[in-house]
This record gives sequence, structure tokens and C-alpha cells, in this order.
Amino acid sequence: MGRTKQRICCVLVAVLLLIFSCLGVDGTEQSQTNVTKGLKGCNMYKGSWVWDDSYPLYDFSRCPYLPKDFDCLGNGRRDQNYLKYRWQPENCNLPRFDGVDFLKRLKGKKIMFVGDSISLQHGQSLICHLHAAVPSSKITADDPNIVRFEDYDVTVIVSFSPFLVDIEQEQVGRVLKLDSIKGAQIWKDIDILVFNTWLWWPNDAAYDYIQEGDKIVKHMDPMEAFRKGLTTWAKWVNSSIDPSKTKVYFRGVTPIHDNGAQWGDPTANSCFNEREPVRGSTYPAGPPPEQKVAEEVLRTITKPVTLLDITTLTQLRKDAHPGIYRQDGPDCIHWCIPGIIETWNQLLYATLL
Ligand SMILES: *[C@@H]1O[C@H](CO)[C@@H](O)[C@H](O)[C@H]1NC(C)=O
Ligand SMILES: *[C@@H]1O[C@H](CO)[C@@H](O)[C@H](O)[C@H]1NC(C)=O
Repeated sequence: MGRTKQRICCVLVAVLLLIFSCLGVDGTEQSQTNVTKGLKGCNMYKGSWVWDDSYPLYDFSRCPYLPKDFDCLGNGRRDQNYLKYRWQPENCNLPRFDGVDFLKRLKGKKIMFVGDSISLQHGQSLICHLHAAVPSSKITADDPNIVRFEDYDVTVIVSFSPFLVDIEQEQVGRVLKLDSIKGAQIWKDIDILVFNTWLWWPNDAAYDYIQEGDKIVKHMDPMEAFRKGLTTWAKWVNSSIDPSKTKVYFRGVTPIHDNGAQWGDPTANSCFNEREPVRGSTYPAGPPPEQKVAEEVLRTITKPVTLLDITTLTQLRKDAHPGIYRQDGPDCIHWCIPGIIETWNQLLYATLL
């Protein structure tokens, strides 16, 4: 039942997780490409979740930009253990997220999160994370998707673009255009771009046709379409980004927790009763195939791109979804705010130091 509801209320997706051997993420492999991952000499994405009594370090309850739908505490979630875990890399310690320092480093800049609803969540979490650091400074948001920290001259923008490539309404219906990326126009003068796309690709209710060149088809293997669309984006980055002006990130894909067999509990068919992270540093089902595709496409880009490689650490957090504490209906795809996304921001911050 939970499963059916999830499909209705959320992005309609079907993710088939296969066991893939982990892609090498060590320094030697990285040094052959321009895809970097942050902190020198340490893979900050390899580690485990540890209980930390001092957590949470921030209070979002007074954040005017907190999306009520994902405010799990506000929506009645009583167990608060999901706020008490700290990400501990194996070989180093992460710097604390310092919101004031973050704002100072970004002075005069615009940061934009581009992608599906989880990209919006990422931006929303950052806005509240920064607000918690400077609660009484002047913040303006004429448009809720464009929040300006006036005293620091920093703008955080969230932009919904679930495929990154274009989807256009035409006479035949909605056409997903694998090699068209006119939407990129609005990315041009942004200083920091944080992209993601995947969740909508397997959802063939999201479009009627797929176009590639002059060819229009009704259906294409989602993984193949994803690879082609992401390659169009990669070419855009390759040809349009000036690395001296713009820093480009790709945030790793995020998991859905609706099949307990993937985390070693075959009796679970949702995240609803999950109250703690998967222990250890590996997710039993391994990384999802779409992440492998994303990494392959990223490696074809010669401009510098940072992979915010949060996939595995997020897979481990089956406890961090809204579950039944979402206003719009049960959800094991999105994330409670606050919750895990502040860790993505902490990692993003670490790459700026
Ligand atoms: C990026 O540009 C380089 C050099 O021009 C080229 O070899 C590479 O294939 C390009 N990658 C993409 C994805 O366009
Ligand atoms: C990395 O980027 C630099 C500068 O943009 C370029 O000259 C070099 O060929 C790139 N290296 C790879 C492996 O893509």
C-alpha cells in the first residue's frame, strides 16, 4: 500500500538497483580526469554515520524558508534520532559547516541548484542552514526560489529542471528533447552551479515522446535516454563554462528506500519504520547503475567538474525520509529538512575551502 501511495504522490519512478562493483574513487583514478571530489588526500565520501550527542548543531524551526511539506518535526515526527548522526569519513574529519564563512567566501556570488525536486530540497536546506548562521541579517526573497543574503551579497537560487535538457509542449504532446538544452540560458551568469538529474528519467508519465535529432520515438530505455540527455549537458559544460568564472558541481543520484532487500531487511517495503542508518560504510545493494552512467558521462568533460559524491552515504540513510510525516502524503524518495541534506552542504562547503 505504502508503495502505491508513494508512486502517486511523488515523482513516479521505478529504480532497479543492481549490484555493481564500486567504481574506483581513489586518488589515482581522479588524477586522470578533471572530475574532482574535494579534500585533498581524503575520500570524504567513504565513511560511516556515527551517533553524536552534540547533534543537531542548528535549529531550522525559525527558518521562514523551511518548506512545511518536508518539515518532519513540524509534521509530527517524534523520533529525532535521525538528527543525531554525523558523517565520519574513514581517513579525515570534515570541517564543520560555518555559515558565516560560507557567505563570506561567496561574497558577490550566485549559487544555483538545478534539477528535480531533490535539487530544490538541496537549495532549501542550504538557505535554512545559512539563515540559522545569520538569523538577524537582512534576507530578501521576492521570489521564494531566489533568496538573497543582502548583508553578504550572496544569492541562492533553486531552479526546477528535472531532465536538464528541454521538454517542450508540442502538438503531439510533451516532447523530451535529448539534444536540446535551451534552458541553459539562465545558467550563464551563475558563479556556482550544482546540477543533478535522474529521478524523472524512468518516469514515462512525465513525457509523451522522446526526440533525438530528427527522430521522435515513444519509448526509449531510461538508462540510455539518461546517458544521452546527460551527455548533451556535458557538452554544454564543455563548451560554455569558463572555469575562471563558474564552478560546476554534479550531485550524485539519491536512492529510494522502498525495498528492504536492498539494505538487508527483506520484510521492509518502505522507509516508514526505519529509525537508524545502515551500519558500516557499504550499502548492501551497492551503488545504483545510474550513478555509474553519470560518472562515465562526467569523465568525458574536460572542464573541471566536482562530483558531490553523496550517493552511498545517502543510501545508508533509510531513516532520513519523511515517511508518513510529509503533508503531501507518504514519501520514501525525498528527505526531511533538516536531516541528511545539511551533510551534503557540509561536504559542498569542504570543497570550497
Ligand atoms: C569536451 O571537449 C574535449 C576537447 O575539445 C573533447 O575531446 C571531449 O570529447 C568533449 N566532451 C564532451 C562531452 O563534449
Ligand atoms: C583538464 O582541464 C584542463 C584545462 O581545462 C585541460 O587542459 C586538460 O586537458 C583536462 N584534462 C583532462 C584529462 O580532461
